[in-house]
Amino acid sequence: MTDSKAQVICLDGPSGVGKGTICLAVARDLDWHILDSGSLYRITALQVLRQFPDSGTDSIKVTQLAEIAKNLSVTYTEKDGQLMIVLDGEDVTQSIRTEQMGAKASEIAAIPEVRTALLQRQRAFLQPPGLVADGRDMGTVVFPDAELKIYLTASAEERAQRRYKQLKEKGIDVNLASLVEELRQRDERDMNRKTAPLKPASDAIIIDTTTLDIEQVTKEVMFWVNQRITR
Ligand code: DC
Repeated sequence: MTDSKAQVICLDGPSGVGKGTICLAVARDLDWHILDSGSLYRITALQVLRQFPDSGTDSIKVTQLAEIAKNLSVTYTEKDGQLMIVLDGEDVTQSIRTEQMGAKASEIAAIPEVRTALLQRQRAFLQPPGLVADGRDMGTVVFPDAELKIYLTASAEERAQRRYKQLKEKGIDVNLASLVEELRQRDERDMNRKTAPLKPASDAIIIDTTTLDIEQVTKEVMFWVNQRITR
C-alpha cells in the first residue's frame, strides 16, 4: 500500500483550523510533496454542479457521482510558490475555495462510493522522499501507517473569526454569525457521516490551536516532525 521509501505526515482536523498553512510550512521545511485532499472533494463538487446545475445531490445517482470523482482530469502544479489546480485545462484554484463549494464538497464527501473513487488517487500522491497530507481521514483511512499523525482542532468561534479576518482582508464582506453557523453545519456533517468521519486517529497527536497563533502551531508541529521523521 504505502511506498516504503516514502514517509507520510497526516494533518487532519475540521474546516478553518489552518491545516493548509501548516502543511505548506512543513512540506517546505522537509522539501516533501503535499496532498490537499479537500481540493479533490471540492473539484468533484464543482464538476457535479456543472454537470447537474439544477439537481440536489440526493437526486443524482450515486454511480454518476462516483463516476465523476473517478474521472477527474486534474493536475496540481506550482505557480509563484503557490499550489495551482487545473481541471480540464482550466485554473480552478480560486473557484473551488468558495463557502458554497466547501458545503457541497462536504455533502458529496458523505457518499461512500465517492470516497472509494478518490482513494487510490490520494494514495498516488505518496512519492519519495515523503508526503504531507491534509484532510479529514488521512490518518484514519488513507494513510493508516503514517509515521506521524497530527489532529488540529480549535473552537468553531475561533475558526470563524480567523476566516472572517481573511475574507475581510480580501475585501469580501461577510457576516461572522453566519460563518460560525456554516462551520458548525460542516463539522456536524463531517463528524457524523458513517464512512470515514472526521475524528483523530487513535495514535494521533492532538493540538488545540484555539489560543495559539500560526507561528506557535507551526513550532509545535515541527517539534513532532523532528521527533518522528528521519530526514
Ligand atoms: O479541507 P476542505 O475544507 O477543503 O474540505 C472540503 C470538504 O471535503 C470537507 O468539508 C469534507 C470533505 N473532505 C473529506 O471528507 N475528507 C477529506 N480528507 C478532505 C475533505
